[in-house]
Amino acid sequence: MAELKQMNHSPIILGIDTSCDDTGIGITQGNKVLANIVASQTALHAKYGGIMPEEASREHLNVIDSVLEQALEQAQLSLDDIDVVAATYGPGLIGALLVGLNYAKALAWARDIPFVAIHHIEGHIASSLTVLDDAKDITLEPPFMSLIASGGHTSLFQVKAWGEYEQLGRSLDDAAGEAFDKVARLLDLGYPGGPVISKAAEHGDEKAYAFTRPLRHQKTFNFSLSGLKTAVATLVEKQPDAKPEDVAASFQYTVVDHLIYVCKKAAKETGLKTIVVAGGVAANKRLREAFADTDLEVIFPPLTLATDNGAMIALAANKRLEVGLFEADDLLKNATPYLPLAPAEFKEGVRKKR
Ligand code: KG4
Ligand code: ZN
Repeated sequence: MAELKQMNHSPIILGIDTSCDDTGIGITQGNKVLANIVASQTALHAKYGGIMPEEASREHLNVIDSVLEQALEQAQLSLDDIDVVAATYGPGLIGALLVGLNYAKALAWARDIPFVAIHHIEGHIASSLTVLDDAKDITLEPPFMSLIASGGHTSLFQVKAWGEYEQLGRSLDDAAGEAFDKVARLLDLGYPGGPVISKAAEHGDEKAYAFTRPLRHQKTFNFSLSGLKTAVATLVEKQPDAKPEDVAASFQYTVVDHLIYVCKKAAKETGLKTIVVAGGVAANKRLREAFADTDLEVIFPPLTLATDNGAMIALAANKRLEVGLFEADDLLKNATPYLPLAPAEFKEGVRKKR
């Protein structure tokens, strides 16, 4: 298996993510994004109001060649310029993961260049690294916290070192993005829920409905969003005339308040002031504004890197190479649908004492 060649520049890395419903291919060098192409399957799945796994895998297969071509064109590079290939190996939908992972492995094998297998969540955390190039006064050295809020995950991690994570908290039920998607369906606003709710909320009154704030008295750093979703369902049923914009705004307000409350609480207990907020929900404008009002040092990825993409996978691979975490046997890693980033730290919802 190929080792990384000695070179006098940062390696040019091609990153692929097909963990869910987006075919993402990015090209990076250091923390700089040279290309980032995402073929979204939103239109395909919109008619179901959610993702159809088999259709997702087939669509990845249909478009992956063309996404690669577009990425190379955007970076103005050819395959000969690529030094390393990286891909997500989990967690995600098995059929979807297999497409991008095997495509990437075959590319690396055929061209005799190193292959790096990346955990999807590590990719989300690494998506923030790219802002370091733009704002030189920001540093991102572990330890720091990372809130990952996406369609499949809502977890709070402590990044102790690159590659070493501790889970501080997680959602006990729905993920934040999932809650946005479900509430959008309840309000008949369309799919995916995050962007449509946030758009509707711009014209709504976020104080119109006071939903109960989840897990206000917990001793842990967990999240819970399904009670809020049920509260919205009950409201919509009992008050069919409620303005969807007001419900959307009040719902969004409560989600944002909940996420920030837990992060602030964890910052207080761990003493960690810096937090990377990533995953699809990190694209939410209201969440960005509310985090900016805290005394935490918050780092968000650029909007284009908040939702799933391939560039974040390349950024994570670059970091792994930089800190010496590259494993030459990554080619043997298989697609793994269930893949926790850190060993579970919870027993019956209580944080273990260390
Ligand atoms: O990270 P991501 O692209 O895919 C997963 O790994 O799940 O996240 C997708 C999720 C969806 O649930 C979508 O509704 C949510 O992120 N999302 C948002 C926004 N944009 C996307 N949620 C809130 N506000 C947004 N602007
Ligand atoms: Zn994701």
